[in-house]
Amino acid sequence: MRVVIIGGTGNISIPIVRLLLQQGHEVTCYNRGQSPGLPDGARVIIGDRHDRPAYEAAMQREAFDAAIDMIGFTPEDAESNLRAFRGISHFIHTSTVCTYGIDYDWLPVTEDHPLRPITQYGRDKARMDSIYLAAYHGDGFPVTIIRPSTTHGPKQGLTRQIAWDYAWLDRIRKGKPIIVCGDGKALHSFLHVDDAAPAYAGVLGRQKCIGQTYNLVDRGFTTWEQYHRAAMQVIGREVELIGVPLADLRTLNIPAFAICDEIFAHNVIYSAEKLFRDVPEFNPRYTLTAAIAHILDAMDAAGRVPNSDDILWEDRVIAAQRAVRAVSLA
Ligand SMILES: NC(=O)c1ccc[n+]([C@@H]2O[C@H](COP(=O)([O-])OP(=O)(O)OC[C@H]3O[C@@H](n4cnc5c(N)ncnc54)[C@H](OP(=O)(O)O)[C@@H]3O)[C@@H](O)[C@H]2O)c1
Repeated sequence: MRVVIIGGTGNISIPIVRLLLQQGHEVTCYNRGQSPGLPDGARVIIGDRHDRPAYEAAMQREAFDAAIDMIGFTPEDAESNLRAFRGISHFIHTSTVCTYGIDYDWLPVTEDHPLRPITQYGRDKARMDSIYLAAYHGDGFPVTIIRPSTTHGPKQGLTRQIAWDYAWLDRIRKGKPIIVCGDGKALHSFLHVDDAAPAYAGVLGRQKCIGQTYNLVDRGFTTWEQYHRAAMQVIGREVELIGVPLADLRTLNIPAFAICDEIFAHNVIYSAEKLFRDVPEFNPRYTLTAAIAHILDAMDAAGRVPNSDDILWEDRVIAAQRAVRAVSLA
């Protein structure tokens, strides 16, 4: 198949491009040319999707068999794609589990769960999903919607629970305690990007997947405490986990904290049974520790683990939390 990946040099997309090439597809990536990592054998079209007329004309001219959009974030992106890919055989939209929000009627969350997004990002993705599904039901636009949860790989790196931050890895290496939210028992799940790629490749061109929405997660779940301890195991050093209540974390102006408040502080468990049923190629293999080891190697090779001695907020919060614990009413 002649396939175009919009944003083909990204965290989730690079392994998809590699796998499609291995499977013999003719793969074109549409990017601005700013991010490295174009897999050997992929063709590239340099462009910015926000230059709508040029983007839509290029896609219409090329008349690809299939398209995978990795970087659609707004309803305008969806409307643009309906014009760009008029007449295409299959279109895959990358949505997010953030469309569900954090107030659940049942767990694990299945694709038919009501959407109650709490962030602009989630609201925009939910709106895009409904635009695509309306186009499918109205005009037969051949869309499949994929909703990933946390999907980590060498490009994204290893986040932590309380912030989008990488210095925690250096803190473990240096034997410093790290903070978790509350008791660290909030449930989450992680998928390695190499395990996500077969889901996309397996959906591609499969008729039964057209008009369908799929959560993209591994089976099971882990607590954030287990995740952080798995990293300690990989690094080979055990450090103390210091629990700080969410309400207190909210007041502290921790850099890049929003991800915790919006997602990681909560139990976010999704079911991918529909994907396992329809796409047998989706068969995650990475254990949590193997994924952490692989990604950490890549982060070290790229010098992406910051020196925690230069980042002062965490020790200050830990000192304050210890002072609270030292208070006795007896
Ligand atoms: N990772 C997760 O945990 C997670 C969870 C849920 C959902 N998702 C969804 O997964 C998708 C992310 O996929 P990814 O990780 O592969 O993406 P990514 O790492 O953000 O990749 C960005 C790619 O898009 C290109 N790009 C950026 N802006 C562009 C523009 N204006 N025009 C053309 N190309 C552009 C970049 O290349 P250039 O810089 O060269 O343009 C690069 O190829 C998103 O839709 C996100 O909502 C991710």
